[in-house]
Amino acid sequence: MTHSPIGVFDSGYGGLTVLKELVKSLPDCDFLYLGDNARTPYGTRSFEVVYEYTLQAVKYLFSQNCHLVILACNTASAKALRNIQQLDLPKLAPERRVLGVIRPSIEKVAEITKNGHVGVLGTVGTVVSESYPIELQKWSGGKVVSTVQEACPMWVPIVENNEIGSEGAEYFIKKNIDSIFEKDANLDTLILGCTHYPLLIDSIKKYVPVNTKIVEQGKIVAEKLEDYLARHPELNKKITKKGKVEFQTTESKDKFENKAALFLGEKVEAKHIHF
Ligand code: DGL
Repeated sequence: MTHSPIGVFDSGYGGLTVLKELVKSLPDCDFLYLGDNARTPYGTRSFEVVYEYTLQAVKYLFSQNCHLVILACNTASAKALRNIQQLDLPKLAPERRVLGVIRPSIEKVAEITKNGHVGVLGTVGTVVSESYPIELQKWSGGKVVSTVQEACPMWVPIVENNEIGSEGAEYFIKKNIDSIFEKDANLDTLILGCTHYPLLIDSIKKYVPVNTKIVEQGKIVAEKLEDYLARHPELNKKITKKGKVEFQTTESKDKFENKAALFLGEKVEAKHIHF
């Protein structure tokens, strides 16, 4: 059987927080992680550009024989997923699948929230797209009564530049969290709506009241994907299962390997690619 991994895409390192959980839940599956590190961040880019870059990445992962691609990036899920699913996939490869991280997170939030007050922390792109408030309204079965959002434009650069825990990082994290609680002091659920943010969890926890639940996406996406594959055996059959995990980046191989090791807690080998 030709090697056919699950493609996992992010603009940079953030998607590694999702990959880590996917590998834990589906240890037999092969994975190919692709980080567009050379063009990160996506969060401040226009709808058109995020769509263009994400589509290039999806086409590339298809060329690597991925039958299933996970956009492990909220910005790409918010700005490109719908177009890709509705306009491109039917022409490109109708039997392949591209899934995002927003829908599974919303289903989980609907299960968790008690008072229906939800906060979303995300990139400027994700916040401006209004994807979370719209989708929460649509899919939470009336359980979410209020959604407030906060764009955290400094958080991705903090992660990408490995400033985690620095004085500057703490300043921006506190500032954004205080600001979202000023918008709604009753938030019982806070979504980390960017896959980079779990890497800042230790700092985030310092400023969030203990009774507010913080939703990280990695485990949720992994749980929902297991379920999805069980319901789609024809797709599941196409994924090869040798437990192989590969890493590719549009940036330099060395740069990726150094940082990915920091985020994953283990050494990885990466390949530099163009698309
Ligand atoms: N990790 C991405 C997300 O979940 C995007 C970060 C960025 O490129 O701005 O939104």
